[in-house]
Amino acid sequence: MREENKKIKHAVVPAAGRGTRFLPATKAVPKEMLPVVDKPAIEYVAEEATSAGLTDLLIITSSAKHALEDHFDAQPELEMALANSGKETILASINRYQELARMHTVRQGHPKGLGHAVYQAAQHVGNQPFAVLLPDDLFHPEDPILEKMIAVQEKLGGSVVALLEVTPEQATAYGSASVNELSPADLGIEAVPAGDLFELTDVVEKPAIENVLSKYATVGRYVFDPKIFEILETLPAGRGGEIQLTDAFRKLIDVPKEEGGGVYGVVVRGRRFDTGDKLGYLQAQVELGLEHPELGAAFREYLVENQQRLIK
Ligand code: G1P
Repeated sequence: MREENKKIKHAVVPAAGRGTRFLPATKAVPKEMLPVVDKPAIEYVAEEATSAGLTDLLIITSSAKHALEDHFDAQPELEMALANSGKETILASINRYQELARMHTVRQGHPKGLGHAVYQAAQHVGNQPFAVLLPDDLFHPEDPILEKMIAVQEKLGGSVVALLEVTPEQATAYGSASVNELSPADLGIEAVPAGDLFELTDVVEKPAIENVLSKYATVGRYVFDPKIFEILETLPAGRGGEIQLTDAFRKLIDVPKEEGGGVYGVVVRGRRFDTGDKLGYLQAQVELGLEHPELGAAFREYLVENQQRLIK
């Protein structure tokens, strides 16, 4: 039985990766726990999922990722100490996890790729559409991309992926999609502006530059029909010997609509930072630091005052 048009509630966050791009920082600390300004990267993802209306967060972890569970858990001794010393604001900051989607974890065991990681969510999610958020991709809330994608899925069914406009050189580091434009107004999708909604006709993971399909890369936000689990169950390893999520949703393009097929794309219009990359992480620190309600003004002043010396 398909369970279409049901409110999407599950967010799946694959966080079992080793963080190789960010060594040595990630030798003993999960990359998702590295702070962006004043909170760990994973908290931005949890906030995004919660504000898109998702109430259940499943993090796919590995044995080295205890800190992720601890971050979203109570700490009675610390809470008591902060309360007793009247540090109410700090206390509120460590208790914010209670307002976020309820957190669960499952371990991936063997690191066999992103598709394999998402497959670990099958039991927990069951037979209903769900979202996947890659924690390396930090999307600025100025564009509620996940909310828009959920609106598309609720209207059209099938699956939805975030699309980023990239150069052909950049496209080789992502999934590359070929697309047909759709009219959101004709389809009754108010959340998505004209020019930003597409149907995917093909997708390939990290192609060589001569095989790039278009200027659209598929990036770290997905809303999937549960049919993807059936595909992942038997999907052979693809690029790099890994079970690729991109290969799985490539197959969804050919599945009939009434069986959960069809893949749509929504263009990302806000800023995106790759916080799993050292340079992307620095960019996020600077831009989000400048916007921080308490630190922003002083940080801006510091940068302006020292501009000559800092940027020669
Ligand atoms: C993953 C996906 C890829 C996607 C990218 C960025 O690759 O496999 O399709 O474009 O994330 O969101 P990774 O960067 O983890 O190698």
